[in-house]
Amino acid sequence: MDISEDFKQELKRRINIADVIGEYVTLKKSGRGLMGKCPFHGDDTPSFSVSPELNVYHCFGCGASGDTIRFVEEMEHLDYIEAVRWLAQKAGITVPENNEDKNAHRLRQRIYEANREAARFYVQQLYTPEGKEALDYLTGRQLLPKTMTHFGLGYSPKSRFALTNYLMGKGFSGTELIQANLANASQSGRPYDRFSDRIMFPIIDLQRRVLGFGGRIMSDIKPKYLNTAETPVFNKSRNLYALQFAKNKADGQLILVEGYMDVIALHQAGFENAVATLGTALTQEQALIIKHYCHEVVICYDADEAGQRATARAISILRPLGLAIRIVTVPNGKDPDEFMKSHGEQGPARFRMLLEKSGSDIDYRLHKLKANYQLDITQQRVDFLTEACQMLATIDNSIEKDIYISQLAEELSVDKNAIRQRVEQYTKMQQRQTAKKQQRAIQRNLTAPQDWSRSDGAFNLRIASTEDALIALLMGHPDIAVTVFERLKPALFPTSFHRTIYRILQERAANGYDFTLMDISDSLSDEETGRLAKILATHPPEEHPQEAAKDYIEILQEEADKLTPQQIAEADDDTMREQMRKLLNKKQ
Ligand code: UTP
Ligand code: MN
Repeated sequence: MDISEDFKQELKRRINIADVIGEYVTLKKSGRGLMGKCPFHGDDTPSFSVSPELNVYHCFGCGASGDTIRFVEEMEHLDYIEAVRWLAQKAGITVPENNEDKNAHRLRQRIYEANREAARFYVQQLYTPEGKEALDYLTGRQLLPKTMTHFGLGYSPKSRFALTNYLMGKGFSGTELIQANLANASQSGRPYDRFSDRIMFPIIDLQRRVLGFGGRIMSDIKPKYLNTAETPVFNKSRNLYALQFAKNKADGQLILVEGYMDVIALHQAGFENAVATLGTALTQEQALIIKHYCHEVVICYDADEAGQRATARAISILRPLGLAIRIVTVPNGKDPDEFMKSHGEQGPARFRMLLEKSGSDIDYRLHKLKANYQLDITQQRVDFLTEACQMLATIDNSIEKDIYISQLAEELSVDKNAIRQRVEQYTKMQQRQTAKKQQRAIQRNLTAPQDWSRSDGAFNLRIASTEDALIALLMGHPDIAVTVFERLKPALFPTSFHRTIYRILQERAANGYDFTLMDISDSLSDEETGRLAKILATHPPEEHPQEAAKDYIEILQEEADKLTPQQIAEADDDTMREQMRKLLNKKQ
């Protein structure tokens, strides 16, 4: 749905970004804006900046940025419209709805209703004679009746019209059932049940709405599990199975397992903080949700190769968020459900022991790495140590890093300081690489592709970063603007965005050299405002503004003398590098 520009403006007037973000992040005044620890990644040093004037936030660490609406989307895991409503509610204003929104909203409501009715229907079927086989199956898998009820487990009958007929009898249309993915359309367009002869696992969100289902077949027919496809209410990368229960039992820790049955077996055994993804690998969005409810994740995936790959992937998504991670490996290649089943009454106590002796993700990775080397051969010890040091270099927390360095030193009988030195070398190398990557990412974001200064990466970086720096300089030091305006014509800004800003600054200067950001953002689109905010956020005030201005002007003039836009567009990388070399030589 389109939200009208007027309404968005009204919302922005009523809502202060600092108030909204301030509910999640402690913000301190810093220069022009506010700074705090980024809520989207594990942030040791405050690298999250908020500009109330510009109504934007930007994180120097992970690159997250956006306006108030975007922040609410990320933080509350809402889509755009939901975030607008959320904010509107806070501001005490109502979102105007057009017909299309009303229809979409109504359809979603109908799908929730149909799903709820379907869930009830499937549960009823489990306790009929036709459902006996399914009930026996679940009992055979050692589920207690109260567990089945708790999770709303059900059975979809063999007949391909059972649910469809039932729901149509309750007033749902064929289209609604198809949209809900409870039914498929036959060639003739007639709807028939999507699920038949399967154990049904309803997927329920935090508002206790039924989003969709997973359905397990009781034989060897593939697919073993059939899941609801994407529908207007179901997105499998944004939800987690059993989170509605687990969030209340988390107490700082969630257990992440692979399957529905693993979750159910663990909850039944008293580990009610277990959740699972919905038939896909862990996504970034799910990781952010997880972070919302705990600070430690125990990954307990299958011991097979696929499970181990999934573990490595989950670690790589969760660790950057600053979550503590532990890895439980269930012995004998079993999954948590099989483990519980094989230990009977002892199951819960044994699993508790596995949890207690589980190591961190670093232990896990070191252990995996070690398995690739024969440590009694000197060269292999060296190779292992090299890789291990590179791995330890990725740890942000210095205390944690030190613990592993000591551990490694002891284990291999190597001097601790020698290891520490190596790790520090790698840390520095990695920091440099990250810095370069961030720089490149920022440049890519800041400079629009239609501008000729962007036609080649290596060369244009210099122009684009000079333009950025000069604009930031002018806005930060309006006192030097008069000299710059005299010396530099707008045409010397190759990038149209910078040229526009520069012109605006010149116009404003007629009313005195005081560039308030609020005034400037008035003349810009939201996107341009965001772009300008990033430039300002990434360029702290200069120590020697006069000299800096002189340098920047010189560079832009040289550039303008050198190549025409056409030449730039047609030049290859080598020509560009050559140009760059000349330019640098000239400067020295
Ligand atoms: P598994 O194959 O490990 O099954 O798939 P499981 O959870 O151990 O199930 P049981 O014990 O055999 O009943 C793990 C998860 O992957 C998804 C499901 O979410 C399942 O719980 N999956 C698996 C599918 O979506 N489709 C499939 O065909 C198989
Ligand atoms: Mn299983």
